[in-house]
Amino acid sequence: MAERIDPWGNGDVGDYQRLMDEFGIESMEPYQKKFSSNRYIRRRIVFGHRDFGAIAECIEKKKPYILMTGLMPSGKFHFGHKMVADHIIWHQSLGAVTYVCAADLEAYLMRGIPLAQAKDIALKEYVANYLALGMKPDVHFWLQSDYKVSYYRLRDVMSKEVTFNELKAIYGELSPGKIFSTLTQAADILHTQLPEFSGPKPTVVPVGIDQDPHIRLTRDIAGRLSHSYRLVTPGATYHTFMSGLSGGKMSSSNPASYIALTDSPKEARRKVMSAKTGGKATVEEQQKLGGSPEACSVYELLRYHLIEDDKELEDVHKRCISGRLLCGECKKACADRLEAFLIEHQKKYREAVKQLDRFMQK
Ligand code: TRP
Ligand code: SF4
Repeated sequence: MAERIDPWGNGDVGDYQRLMDEFGIESMEPYQKKFSSNRYIRRRIVFGHRDFGAIAECIEKKKPYILMTGLMPSGKFHFGHKMVADHIIWHQSLGAVTYVCAADLEAYLMRGIPLAQAKDIALKEYVANYLALGMKPDVHFWLQSDYKVSYYRLRDVMSKEVTFNELKAIYGELSPGKIFSTLTQAADILHTQLPEFSGPKPTVVPVGIDQDPHIRLTRDIAGRLSHSYRLVTPGATYHTFMSGLSGGKMSSSNPASYIALTDSPKEARRKVMSAKTGGKATVEEQQKLGGSPEACSVYELLRYHLIEDDKELEDVHKRCISGRLLCGECKKACADRLEAFLIEHQKKYREAVKQLDRFMQK
């Protein structure tokens, strides 16, 4: 049976390779070496793409391109979100014209979060952390519910380019809220190329694979609009999700499953110390058989965020599988790194919060 990906589902994606084959997502492998300055590409956390070739060329030849992505402001900004932020910042540092939206409308329509609350979260959680992580203030940032007329005009015009049956085939059961969210997301991605914004340019949208239905639809719409708009079909990169610290998925609705970038260092330490690991039931067993870093949320934190040096990470991996490293010691070392990161980050965060008013007025 054909697979369907539900962008509003529970984030369970199952077999990445099967989805890539089914939906024609290409492997990121050819770019791993060339763009090894990006930890997520280098470690294949970014595993797939559409049309990344055009972006690679822009980066190499220093030609302009657009980076666009968005996040639903639905709760605390955690390490799963940090991955997207780091990716945005990397592209921005390479010269991409950077567009980032807060999907407050989607958060309202699909999660019932009041718009005022979504705005507050978008600023204090998302924007402040983005800035603290190093995003330059020249980013184009907007709230879906409060933006420019030409963006809404594009969204409304696009509704003529899709049929109800086509949407049903992509998303399954529909609701007006889903249709609005979908077309708004297509406008998020495509309006950046309107003449009054950045004009037609190669575009990359870094997302989790759960967003691929929107990417496919947006790419189709871009082609269909060629009668009246000049648009380059946007591409995307896809990353794997981090799993939750308590086992299962990392989810904004379960604070034990994530570490927020504003969690106190003490609280963060506690979460790491009680995280689910790939360790064995007893010390003896682990010394004999070794642990399983692939199934360990502590290792994941190190691999995604806390160890930059590949050799150092490899060393943890080796000592873990050989049984020389035990989880207690490993967690403690991870918690130390995490604490040090959070202390530094939260200084910058407090500075960023003070800049928010100025940022929004720009
Ligand atoms: N739908 C995305 C989410 O659930 C948020 C989003 C809104 C987005 N507009 C976008 C992502 C444009 C990428 C591009 O998090
Ligand atoms: Fe995970 Fe470290 Fe335990 Fe290995 S030793 S299973 S990496 S916590």
